[in-house]
Amino acid sequence: MAGEVEVAQVLLYARDLKAQYDATRAREQDLRLAHGRLQAAHRQSLRYADDLKGTHDRLQRAFFQSLLGLANALEAKDPYTRGHSERVARLAEQLALRIGCSRSEARIIAQAGLLHDLGKIGMPEAVLRKAGPLTEEEWRLMREHPVVGAQIVAPLEFFSEGARIVRHHHERSDGSGYPAGLSGEAIPLGARIVAVADVYDALTSDRPYRGSLGRAAALDHIEEAAGHLLDPEIVSAFLRLVSDGCPDPRL
Ligand SMILES: [Fe+2]
Repeated sequence: MAGEVEVAQVLLYARDLKAQYDATRAREQDLRLAHGRLQAAHRQSLRYADDLKGTHDRLQRAFFQSLLGLANALEAKDPYTRGHSERVARLAEQLALRIGCSRSEARIIAQAGLLHDLGKIGMPEAVLRKAGPLTEEEWRLMREHPVVGAQIVAPLEFFSEGARIVRHHHERSDGSGYPAGLSGEAIPLGARIVAVADVYDALTSDRPYRGSLGRAAALDHIEEAAGHLLDPEIVSAFLRLVSDGCPDPRL
């Protein structure tokens, strides 16, 4: 009799164990399913993040294209500067490559060359086209254009170096430029490059207040400006570029 009770207890115990084992298996199965669903959700989130990044990049590029359109509109208002930004961009890119910048650095410098005077968009045409000397107030307005331009391009995250170049393209080596009065190597390299290209193209273009100086006289001016207005190393690279027969038609 005692033996039968023990067997019954053992059977009960065994059934309990089996039930616990089954419950554990079921929980494991649930956990595996939940884990699979989490992994799928994680992969989906990564795909969403990729899509968002793609959309963000496309929006930034579209914004950049609109700014180029604005820069062209600005030049269309002023026949004297037509084509100026494109020539500055091409020249600045060649100069950047010449002094050893990488292709991507040279591209940013060229893009900044295209947009360097964008801040003039808010300036009255009467000032932009004025043939005579500017009044003090007109000069004050004119000197704001690098900062205004940098503010316009500021939302472009991929273009932060370009914004610095736009902001500082009127700094001078001796610290007498604007807006920050930076000197020497404190001026961003791209801004020093764009400055040489900008000055050369301005000197070889007709302006409301004077005609083109011609290539030889412009090169003399650039050489004289080395060290106090323009970066001497960039100027000598520029002169080498010219003497080696730069592919730019204006050189
Ligand atoms: Fe400018």
